[in-house]
Amino acid sequence: MTLILGIETSCDETAAAVVEDGRVVRSNVIASQHDLHERYGGVVPEIASRAHLESIEPVLRAALNEAGVKLDQIDAIAVGNRPGLIGSLVVGVSAAQSLAWATGKPLIAIDHVQAHLHAPLLTENQKPETRDQKPVFPALGFVVSGGHTSLYAMQSPSEQTLLGSTIDDAVGEAYDKAAVILQLGYPGGPAVDRAARQGNPAACDLPRSLLARDSVDFSFSGLKTALLYTVRGRPSGRGKQARFERSADDLTDPQRRDLAASFQQAVVDVLITKLNRALDHMAALGQPPHALLVGGGVSANSLLRERVAELGEKRGVTVHLPAMTYCIDNAAMIAGLAFDYHQRGEHADLDLPAIATTSL
Ligand code: KG4
Ligand code: ZN
Repeated sequence: MTLILGIETSCDETAAAVVEDGRVVRSNVIASQHDLHERYGGVVPEIASRAHLESIEPVLRAALNEAGVKLDQIDAIAVGNRPGLIGSLVVGVSAAQSLAWATGKPLIAIDHVQAHLHAPLLTENQKPETRDQKPVFPALGFVVSGGHTSLYAMQSPSEQTLLGSTIDDAVGEAYDKAAVILQLGYPGGPAVDRAARQGNPAACDLPRSLLARDSVDFSFSGLKTALLYTVRGRPSGRGKQARFERSADDLTDPQRRDLAASFQQAVVDVLITKLNRALDHMAALGQPPHALLVGGGVSANSLLRERVAELGEKRGVTVHLPAMTYCIDNAAMIAGLAFDYHQRGEHADLDLPAIATTSL
């Protein structure tokens, strides 16, 4: 049995977890900073890194305690060292470096985006007979989060080629902006999803931007602008001089729910169309995928989960969606993916850097 301690501090969650053999989650501790950032309507980097500094030690202790293990029983220490907010990443990376140095255990550097695609493979109470069940590669990987909307052809958990990504806003970012336009609160994605479930998706015809005929890239800025103009009317003047006809204060709650539902329908229609195209694309490359792995904050979305399951049935691919706990940023996905690297002996040097952006 291999136990890996994972650490994740790339954005606004301080997280640590212990995962057995890459899949069985023994503990998963997350200290969220949402309350600290709520009044600013988004993550403030300086506040985030200071909060990580305060939480990292108690979070690490809690992860070991909940797993019922001591540090010397851990086989390796993994950390998400890229991409993310640099001041936040540095806190997790320094903690991992110190632990690896003090214990002599190997250190593993993990890409946060790649780790989101390991989240659907995690389980808490996996039955022993299914432990060796692995998704069949090649697989199509789909990361839908606040920072990414990316499709990958995956040959293994750690080998992936980018097929397409967003040319403007990430899908989670579009959700967060829609929540601001509709005055639904922060964080935006879950609020829009909740309102949408009670609204009429056909109430308002919003655009679906599909780009070129066979494109597997995404664009959400046109949809966001269409929603803004539907709520507030067309502006007179530009930029800071823009004056709108109406205010979002004038919306009734049923109107808000209908607009949320229409927005959600437009977003998910686009995501499903692109997934279909990406499946065709991989087949054309001679790698028809056997499985679809979805990860990232937006994989918690109720309509996306339903529609992806339907798509899997129609297209004959096995769909792996994360349990709700592993959709948001967490360290179990870091520790889980690290098992693959550990088995191949791919360990990092003690001076591994924190890297704000990666090409993945
Ligand atoms: O993966 P994540 O926790 O952080 C990043 O790595 O970006 O994703 C956060 C994003 C936010 O934009 C949030 O609004 C969105 O995921 N999100 C959702 C839902 N839950 C979280 N978007 C749509 N529907 C949801 N239920
Ligand atoms: Zn993330």
